[in-house]
Amino acid sequence: MATSNQPIGIFDSGIGGLTVANAIRKLLPNEKIIYFGDTAHVPYGDKSASAIQFYSQNIADFLLLKKCKLIVIACNTASAAARKTTAEHIKNISVLNVIDPVVEYAASHFNKTTIGLIGTKGTIHSRVYPNAIKKANKSIQTNSLATPLLAPMIEEGFFNNNISKTIISAYLEKNALKDIEALILGCTHYPLIQKEIEAVYKKKKQKIKILNSADIVAHSVKDALKAQKLLSKTENPKHEFYVSDYTKSFEESTKVFFGDKVKLKEVNLWK
Ligand code: DGL
Repeated sequence: MATSNQPIGIFDSGIGGLTVANAIRKLLPNEKIIYFGDTAHVPYGDKSASAIQFYSQNIADFLLLKKCKLIVIACNTASAAARKTTAEHIKNISVLNVIDPVVEYAASHFNKTTIGLIGTKGTIHSRVYPNAIKKANKSIQTNSLATPLLAPMIEEGFFNNNISKTIISAYLEKNALKDIEALILGCTHYPLIQKEIEAVYKKKKQKIKILNSADIVAHSVKDALKAQKLLSKTENPKHEFYVSDYTKSFEESTKVFFGDKVKLKEVNLWK
């Protein structure tokens, strides 16, 4: 049986999932976080579903060994490929993902409309978002666009500049995203360009609601912990951050995604 003072496990293909970890620590400051970034295998966006399922199971096992009371798959691509297999593999604690809470939010806040979705090729080609949204609310049409340049662009520090503006508007101008009422940011990295995305629509005087999955997911973690009576009261919890392949440049980039620079420890699950 899990107890409230155990940590929350969060994992992603790399360090982008720190945007989700950041939203969770802001909403739940008493929760200790154990984060795992699979930097040895990043990016997941172009990997096969079976490879992502295998990595996700191994990472979830590691988080279980670390005594986590709940696991969050903070990566959209891993959520698309491995949310079911990971939850089936880890039976005794809840495994949340970043897709289901956003689908629920979209299905309950919109009606008879078209919603846009951007994400990696893996996430978009899986069609998990549109299928789940249709199942939850038949009146919503989801138009998807793979935007594979965005994550590497952000990782290389190209945001809030002319290059990022050009690439973002080139994607948002595509026909697939015409006449949408809301846009789902279906990738860990995209909260960092939310303002630039909003600016494109503002310029066109198009009213659009941006769905930032990090915040929506943080609320669903809170709800799950509350329902299971697992909310922690720990003061100043000491978070831990692991990666499967350490480089100084990953460590430097943590500040961009988490708000603070953090120390990364290498633990290679596959060596
Ligand atoms: N974390 C991935 C996602 O949210 C983006 C980076 C990758 O392709 O691994 O889809």
